[in-house]
Amino acid sequence: MAILINEEKKLFTLNTKNTTYQMKVIDYGYLAHLYYGKKMDGDMSYVITHYDRGFSGNPYEAQEHREFSLDNIPLEYSCYGNGDFRTPAFNIKDIEGIHGCDLRYVSYEVMDSKYSLKGLPAAYTNDGEKGETLKIVLQDPQVGVEVDLLYGIIEDKDLITRSAIIRNISDADIFVAKASSVSLDFVTGDYDLIHFHGRHAMERMYEREAINHGVKKIGSTRGTSSHQHSPFVVIAGKDANEDAGDCYGISLLYSGSFNCEVEKDQTDQVRLNMGVQDEMFEYVLYPESEFVAPEVVMVYSPDGFADMSHKMHDVVRYNICRGEYKTKRRPILINSWEAVYFDFNGDDIVNIAKQASELGVEMLVLDDGWFGVRNDDKSGLGDWFVNEDKMGGPMADVVKRVKDLGMKFGIWIEPEMVSEKSNLFKEHPDYAFVIPGRKPVMGRSQLNLDFSRKEVVNCIFDQMTAVLDKIDVDYIKMDMNRSILNVYSMTEGIQNNGTILYKYVLGVYDFMERLQARYPKMFIEGCSGGGGRFDAGMMYYTPQIWCSDDTDAICRLDIQYGTSFGYPISVVGSHVSAVPNHQTGRTTPFNTRAVVAMAGSFGYELDLNKVSDEEKEEVKAQVENYKKYWDLLHNGLYYRLTDADKSKGVAAWSFVARDKSETLVNIVTVESFCNAPVPFVRVKGLDVDATYVDEETGAEYSGQGLDQIGLPVPLKFGEYNAYQIHLVRK
Ligand code: DGJ
Repeated sequence: MAILINEEKKLFTLNTKNTTYQMKVIDYGYLAHLYYGKKMDGDMSYVITHYDRGFSGNPYEAQEHREFSLDNIPLEYSCYGNGDFRTPAFNIKDIEGIHGCDLRYVSYEVMDSKYSLKGLPAAYTNDGEKGETLKIVLQDPQVGVEVDLLYGIIEDKDLITRSAIIRNISDADIFVAKASSVSLDFVTGDYDLIHFHGRHAMERMYEREAINHGVKKIGSTRGTSSHQHSPFVVIAGKDANEDAGDCYGISLLYSGSFNCEVEKDQTDQVRLNMGVQDEMFEYVLYPESEFVAPEVVMVYSPDGFADMSHKMHDVVRYNICRGEYKTKRRPILINSWEAVYFDFNGDDIVNIAKQASELGVEMLVLDDGWFGVRNDDKSGLGDWFVNEDKMGGPMADVVKRVKDLGMKFGIWIEPEMVSEKSNLFKEHPDYAFVIPGRKPVMGRSQLNLDFSRKEVVNCIFDQMTAVLDKIDVDYIKMDMNRSILNVYSMTEGIQNNGTILYKYVLGVYDFMERLQARYPKMFIEGCSGGGGRFDAGMMYYTPQIWCSDDTDAICRLDIQYGTSFGYPISVVGSHVSAVPNHQTGRTTPFNTRAVVAMAGSFGYELDLNKVSDEEKEEVKAQVENYKKYWDLLHNGLYYRLTDADKSKGVAAWSFVARDKSETLVNIVTVESFCNAPVPFVRVKGLDVDATYVDEETGAEYSGQGLDQIGLPVPLKFGEYNAYQIHLVRK
């Protein structure tokens, strides 16, 4: 049993294989947080100490016990208005406009399986796995609000999840001003925050900083999880590194605007809140209605970032991703975007497919430009009918010609958008987010469709399925190419404006759920201008996401490094593209581009008719290599072997078989010097008592040597060389 309850002490303990989470109902019915970390026995109530601290308020019942203040007590679901002046997880406003409430414990319930959330993604158990749920109910009867705190446990995965359901139990409307999914207080310890910031085409850049006094806030107000910040963070002990130390990986399963705050308070305690963004958010709760906060998944490791990442990778890959291709090798694809952009016809697409298929590529993906009037990015979105003039006939003909080559076929869509120059906008201007009487802010010359409205989702769904029903599609790339603004829903009325972005995300999830249900064998890859909606919530619907619009192999080293902390290799869409690279102008060797792209779900993004004969031979070898190593890449353990600063002038990572029988070490040199010192890359995760043989050269290395000294990186003339070294246990 993972959930232990001491009725007398009102002590709740959640145990996973290696971790413990504990909380308790303390005086006056408050639910205090006691502990989250390494597995422990016993009652940790003693961590709560009481001192009278000036200007920290006391509950009315405490009277002269001025040492009891919520301002200093670690809480499970902190709220504004009860004397806790730290950043609250929860805040509501009543019908009179008064903010705040005071949540007290009411009851608990234990369920024999892991909860799911209606309309929202949530981690689930697989056959043979045991999940459990603890629900704790808190209430403020004066204000008329009830909160179900949900704790999910998958013991074997060391996974603890949290969510909250907010319910109006009064007769009047109330307004949820903030409803985090998790609030996590740390009474002791000195921590760093690791987060992943970025920008379009340069997402998830690693940043580590001390948690100092005050509030550090990251998040998105863009309606998507965004290129700018990832909804995955790490709270790391000061000494934590890849190989050792305390660290908590915390990931929000939500693809809209989000908020993550980390605060060090007046007595050096640390609090993390994470959930839906509260800026521009105000959720009207009518009597008896509910708001469901998206799920947060959490893993803890005392053994450093590599172990934490391995746990999070397994949770995302096995307990969040779904569908036919969840754990299957996906077809090696060639995408038309960087090959031809909008400038193509049906024959061009078939020609790209033909050459690619001859070299072993398995699927053609027709990107943007096949529908409506869409010869650039200024028109056509919303008109989901095949442009037969451009394609030279019905889409089914193109699909057949591609399939006759023995390839699978994939197609690009962008359902959430409308161009002003489109039939849809002419017929239904009210379907777009535009504030009446104001000129909208444009993004890529397009407007957001109001996916909070069912009829809008239905209109796009019906148009798209009319196309898809007629062709045999194996894959969809679902894109989203602007941030959301001009938020105004014609049907909701202005009092509900603060709910629309949340309902929009539910609309997107509903669209994907229905699409997958209609074509269960089809594989959906997510995309938002590359990695602008690269979050674990989206991965529930799209087990692969185009990681970045930047296909430059050297930029990808940083992007994929940051991404690897919270997300497994299998979700990372990664392609070999042409040089000079279309985003940076940089030229890198063909082999380097392939080595980098193999740290993901592999494909090509160029016209292979235009590469040299020598490079065509390389493509054949790369395809074979990827197939040969796929099991190791996707089912093995991923290790970062160098840090973000690539201090030795190399970036290195490896994949290790779970039984330690083999590893594939990948190295890219990022600096070139004359008479350079030989960099050594320490190889992790191997059997230190074994000997490993380099499959290509026959060189032998002791496991201990690889672990302690490392592999010497070959010094080779030229820029950006890459090496893949396959070591097999003797
Ligand atoms: C942005 C995507 O990330 C690209 O790969 C491509 O699909 C374009 N959109 C098409 O407009």
